Amino acid sequence: MKAAKRLDDLGMSKIRLLSAKAQEMRAQGRQMYMFTMGQPDFATPRYIIDACEKALEDGFTTYPAYEGPLVFRQAVCDKYERDNGLKFDPKQVISTCGAAQAAYLVLTSFLDPEDEVLVPNPMYNIYENIAGVCGAKAVKYSLREENDFQIDLDEFKSLITDKTKMIVICSPNNPIGGVLTKENLEGVAEIVADKDILICSDEIYERLVYDGTKAVSPASIPSLRDKTIIINGFSKAFSMTGWRVGYIITPEQYFEKLYVHTGLQVSGIPAFVLQAAAVALNDEEKYNTVEKMRVEFEERRNYFVGEINKTKHFSCKMPKGAFYIFMNIKKTGMTSEEFVDWLVENYGIVMVTGTIFGSEGEGFVRISYASSMDDIQAACKILHEADKALDK
Ligand SMILES: Cc1ncc(COP(=O)(O)O)c(C=O)c1O
Repeated sequence: MKAAKRLDDLGMSKIRLLSAKAQEMRAQGRQMYMFTMGQPDFATPRYIIDACEKALEDGFTTYPAYEGPLVFRQAVCDKYERDNGLKFDPKQVISTCGAAQAAYLVLTSFLDPEDEVLVPNPMYNIYENIAGVCGAKAVKYSLREENDFQIDLDEFKSLITDKTKMIVICSPNNPIGGVLTKENLEGVAEIVADKDILICSDEIYERLVYDGTKAVSPASIPSLRDKTIIINGFSKAFSMTGWRVGYIITPEQYFEKLYVHTGLQVSGIPAFVLQAAAVALNDEEKYNTVEKMRVEFEERRNYFVGEINKTKHFSCKMPKGAFYIFMNIKKTGMTSEEFVDWLVENYGIVMVTGTIFGSEGEGFVRISYASSMDDIQAACKILHEADKALDK
């Protein structure tokens, strides 16, 4: 039996395939340095694990409400008020199985065949794939290095048509680590002001920002407030990738459909996980764990970027957020795919091909610095050797 036609364009995740190949080489005894996975290398903070154990003992083991308990939704609202200065009502919040299901829920709830959705190029590619499953068209807007990874508003405006139903914004962005400025987002707001277009704002990296940068939510721009559905989660800032917990915050008018639809997709998120996630948010300031991890990421970023920019053939902008460096390899004369293969085979360093994230990724590779400083230092030494070898 052939799978449904709408799945025709779906293939295995190339990042996972690349990681599997590197693991295989490691199993054969090769020393490998992996900078592929967008997964913090820290343990989940102890106070969250304790809260989960307590929740299990307290009997939070039955079916949860589809949208999650009030304690969780209130914790999300309190977090947005505290960190982002945005007031929401718990009636606007729905728990999800990570930001990934949140993206699936939002896109599949609004996109019909032939609709168009604007997505960044480059971008973590679930959005394009989910649009494809809906039979909708992902129209790419560029985030280019020479434009400091900001939205080119002229290009952006030219891509909007009568079929545009949604715009995906992701700041800080995966794979480039770029953070959109308030002015840039205000430019977007102006363009969509008189249009019936939804903004889907992926804010999964909003706590991981550096050099005093603040990630601005489109929802904080008054004219976008009622057009924006926020996606966020616990995987990155709280190092909770395996817990599979996230949420959306939606204008109230969309709540009912999203609630019913998520019921069909996941029937709620494990009750004990939601209790622990609420504690993660409520007690965060007390334990300061997000900040401790953020500071460590910032140190690694500074070191890695410094070393890359000492080389002759590689360069990068200082990324303002997330834990990715988008390294320019154009001076090597190789395509991004050739470079990744060359580096893996000859030097045991694994990075992700930029083109996985869209055509704007050609000439770039993504480095995740969610790896130990020891690995980063060892890999940078090897990277200098690779750089010298390119001279020969
Ligand atoms: C931009 C972006 N959105 C969503 C996700 C999914 O995150 P989660 O683990 O919460 O499903 C990722 C994961 O890498 C991501 O980079």
